Amino acid sequence: MMKGLKKWRLFSLLTVMMVFLSGCGEEYLSTLKPSGEVGKEQLNLLLLTTGIMTLVVVVVSVIYLLAFVKFRRSKVGENVIPKQVEGSHTLEIIWTVIPIILLLIIAVPVVTATYKFADVAAMDEVDENGNKTALTVNVTAKLYWWEFEYPNQGIITAQELVVPTGEKVYFNLKAADVKHSFWIPAIGGKMDTNVENVNKFYLVFDKESEGLKDGVFYGKCAELCGPSHALMDFKVKSLSPDAFDAWVTSMQETEGQTADKESSDLGEATFANSCLGCHAVSGSGSAPGMGPNLTTYGDRNRLAGFLDHTEEDLKAWIKDPAEFKPGNLMMNADGTAPIYGNLSDEEIQALATYIMGLSVEK
Ligand code: CUA
Repeated sequence: MMKGLKKWRLFSLLTVMMVFLSGCGEEYLSTLKPSGEVGKEQLNLLLLTTGIMTLVVVVVSVIYLLAFVKFRRSKVGENVIPKQVEGSHTLEIIWTVIPIILLLIIAVPVVTATYKFADVAAMDEVDENGNKTALTVNVTAKLYWWEFEYPNQGIITAQELVVPTGEKVYFNLKAADVKHSFWIPAIGGKMDTNVENVNKFYLVFDKESEGLKDGVFYGKCAELCGPSHALMDFKVKSLSPDAFDAWVTSMQETEGQTADKESSDLGEATFANSCLGCHAVSGSGSAPGMGPNLTTYGDRNRLAGFLDHTEEDLKAWIKDPAEFKPGNLMMNADGTAPIYGNLSDEEIQALATYIMGLSVEK
């Protein structure tokens, strides 16, 4: 009876672990399934260090258990004094040298990789016309969203980072308010975004994100930054180099695009009156926005980084953003009414339709 119960317990434990661990392998989100040079090397370091640490734990445990079993009083007798090894040169050398060797095996590749990942010299390289050759993205983390500016292309977007596959993409990382941390688990990172300095690194995206769940890689804020820290997500669309160039061109073509207060479209007019002060609808330029740039809103796959990308959810968000993202800056400081005033249901419906229609990907 007891034996059956034990077996059953072991079985349920294994089942629970299997269900739990099967969540570790999602390609759009998992550090354990990297899709780029940096992520792959970081995983290798993780496996190397975990392997060595496991080896140490196993060896020490085996020696401990052996000593425990072999040298019990009941086995060796009451009056036995084991061989005294205090001050033994041989033993002291062994247990000093082995850890040093293990630490060197860990340290050499880790330190080498750390310097390699921080090598951003290519950011300053220019071609014969004086144009920067490397693709650079300026990332600004804000409460609780992400702005992505492409200084060499003269475009700006938010919440959804778009990158080409197969080349190093360089990042200037900073924060506008408090410390955040930029992390795309399946690609590499993470690195802090600070207010007082710019951190730099690069990432490589091997795979087009189209085939993934939602068609994007998931990005996260990895530094506790406030009540909506856990909701401070962004998405990454990796495109073939040609598709990326086409996207850049369509973004540049939105230059001057705006919303008209006199528009016969109630959605556009409401947007111009209530939203345009903080949210731009042109992706051209480099001016930072008070709120996320919405030029590509219709192309995104999430609302506010994590909600479903539907008109229904958008309407609910416009009615009460604080319900979904506590502490976000679309609300009065005390979290009461949205700062853009109270809109009628008709205006909200029209606004949602207008915003869902903002797109550069036809
Ligand atoms: Cu931003 Cu956590």
